[in-house]
Amino acid sequence: MSISQKMREQMQRSSWIRRMFEDAERIKKERGADAVFDLSLGNPIEEPPSRFLESMRSAAHDPASGTHRYMNNAGFPTTRAAVAQMVSKEQGVQLNENHVIMSCGAAGALNAVLKAILDPGDEVIIFAPFFVEYIFYIDNHNGVARIVESDGAFQPDPGRLAEAITDRTKAVIINTPNNPTGVVYSGALMREMAAVLKEASRRHGREIYLLSDDVYRHIVYDDTSLPAVFTEYPNSIIVSSFSKDLGLAGERIGYIALSPAVGELEALFSACVTATRVLGFVNAPALMQRSILACLDARVDMDLYRHNRQVLCDGLARGGFRFVEPMGAFYIFPQCPEPDDVACCAVLRDKGVIVVPGSGFGRPGHIRLAYSVERQTAVKAAAVLAEYGR
Ligand SMILES: Cc1ncc(COP(=O)(O)O)c(C=O)c1O
Repeated sequence: MSISQKMREQMQRSSWIRRMFEDAERIKKERGADAVFDLSLGNPIEEPPSRFLESMRSAAHDPASGTHRYMNNAGFPTTRAAVAQMVSKEQGVQLNENHVIMSCGAAGALNAVLKAILDPGDEVIIFAPFFVEYIFYIDNHNGVARIVESDGAFQPDPGRLAEAITDRTKAVIINTPNNPTGVVYSGALMREMAAVLKEASRRHGREIYLLSDDVYRHIVYDDTSLPAVFTEYPNSIIVSSFSKDLGLAGERIGYIALSPAVGELEALFSACVTATRVLGFVNAPALMQRSILACLDARVDMDLYRHNRQVLCDGLARGGFRFVEPMGAFYIFPQCPEPDDVACCAVLRDKGVIVVPGSGFGRPGHIRLAYSVERQTAVKAAAVLAEYGR
């Protein structure tokens, strides 16, 4: 077989979502698409705001020459300055274009940062349940993923974090609002984690980066406020994108923002820019960099997500599921009534509801529901969940 051993293992590891997708396709063929309520994929369903579409049209019609060429691998200075301005407001710390590198989505940003900071065997701590791609991204750059269990409410435990740090720990990845759980971390928790990292950096004599995956930062409910990592911890790096809040997942536009207080700022900036180049991303898409400029404060319509979150929480409660109410993103991660999450998914699949087993996210006994779906899909799925076990 010509495919590498590692790739074969990775294909096997990521088989849950694929298997659910194949199941959904098979059942759609058997019963018709109307009888299948697919909550398996976190693909943003809302269209980009009209302001973005107008901006993209005018960027595409701009007669200036050179707009489609390669640019500095970090991205257009004007776009980087505008993103720096946005992050400054959110973080309460002043950034400029020399703190921002444009990327091919948050996925591209994560890979560039990990390539920039990891030596072979360096450890990266992630909290379970986790976004499964982290495992692959860490491995891509010869790092070792150290998985630390979060608590029953899916909050990281600073004590467990402290125990997991070794002299090979290079970074900790956090994701709030979280995929797959929808939980948000509090300012108090961030401060506790920052204290653990400061103490461990001092003890081990090397800096530990806090890598904050902020892709769902603007998808929050009920006036939930989010802490600012840059004010809590100096060696922090934000990776984010416009995939979710502007509905541009397929356009691959995101960014890396470096805390102005990070150690060896200029070297880290250059390393991230070089990593963007040598990984083959080269630069973030030029048309998208110009299109987002005028609408960094625009957001997709949140009504659909609010509606779906409400009906699915109601359905789960009526069906006797235990769950933590999501405060952000568009996922719920309920506990299965029986311990076997794969069996729970099979029962739901036979009733037309497609969800993913928690095992795929490092927390068996749970299922993940993605509610970036049409209203009717959520309503019908909720009715099935409400009848679970009856
Ligand atoms: C937690 C998390 N991080 C990163 C990404 C990747 O986002 P992007 O499309 O910006 O690469 C996703 C996508 O679903 C995600 O859920």
